[in-house]
Amino acid sequence: MSNSSIDKASVVNRYLPAQLVAKENADAFAPSNIALCKYWGKRDVELNLPVNSSLSVSLAHLGSHTNISHSDTGLDRVRLNNKDLSLDSNFSRKVIAFVDLFRRGQKIALTIDTRNNIPTAAGLASSASGFAALVLALDEFFSLKLEKSVLSAFARMGSGSASRSIYTGFVRWDMGTQADGMDSVACQLDSKWPDLCIGLIKVSSAQKPVDSRSGMTRTIETSKLYPSWPEQAGSDLITLEQAIAEKNFSQMGACAEKNAMSMHATMISAWPPLVYWLPESLAVMHKVWQLREAGVAVFFTMDAGPNLKLLFEACSHSVLQAEFASMEVVRPFSD
Ligand code: DP6
Repeated sequence: MSNSSIDKASVVNRYLPAQLVAKENADAFAPSNIALCKYWGKRDVELNLPVNSSLSVSLAHLGSHTNISHSDTGLDRVRLNNKDLSLDSNFSRKVIAFVDLFRRGQKIALTIDTRNNIPTAAGLASSASGFAALVLALDEFFSLKLEKSVLSAFARMGSGSASRSIYTGFVRWDMGTQADGMDSVACQLDSKWPDLCIGLIKVSSAQKPVDSRSGMTRTIETSKLYPSWPEQAGSDLITLEQAIAEKNFSQMGACAEKNAMSMHATMISAWPPLVYWLPESLAVMHKVWQLREAGVAVFFTMDAGPNLKLLFEACSHSVLQAEFASMEVVRPFSD
């Protein structure tokens, strides 16, 4: 991991006109995404350039809506889920710092209104869809007409996983090699999988004790297992792409579950240990393994938190809904 000599502002600046022309307002939506091959570790913390490529599936209509309009008070206004936030809050500061990359000192006071429709019960992070929707709304508001790959790179500068939320369906984020990161962008895969279901299982909605950004830094700096991660992720990515192209569900599910467990192994072996699992998370894992033993094709994946996402096909939906009553199900290609 290195601190880049290139700052975000200078990268964004290259793609902007000398003078911004603002519309009255602009609206955008971006979906949440679930990684099947995880992004874990940065080679550049300023630009969120990853150590490995990753692959995700976007969650259709579940995500963030962002509206940008002029603020009549002369001061920025940041709203989240229909409430005004203090400009000192973490969320407001991140949003304003990001918008400033585009305004470059021009005095344009804005109202930035974000609404997440991710069910609160799902326990999903919203920074991926949030930054992707913000980039899409800025592109529209300032009539920038940027290419999708550029939008993906800009969203990545807000939060790495946001690079993938620019697209629907299966999405691969290529790590890239350039120092300015403009080749570290996501692209959509051709394949569709109408029967694929994602079950969102919430075991806790408490805020995670260590966010992904600090978790990655700690893992890289202290885990003896981390050096094996980039190679594992590289080979999982190939297996997953093949399984998706061939619609081989058990290959895809097994690889996604193994990839998540390998990422967690690097976290658990960090110091101090990063254990995002709760006893309830482990109980769900055991239930999934028992169901698999009994012949139900179901796998799980987990991110930097205690909640689980189940992967299964439509034919197993009713049996799994009976086992996990509060599970919220998304069909990324049919919803
Ligand atoms: C475990 O994209 O939230 O969910 O780039 O620091 O904002 P930052 O991290 P973030 O990390 C996501 C990590 C993950 C795996 C994944 O979504 O690929």
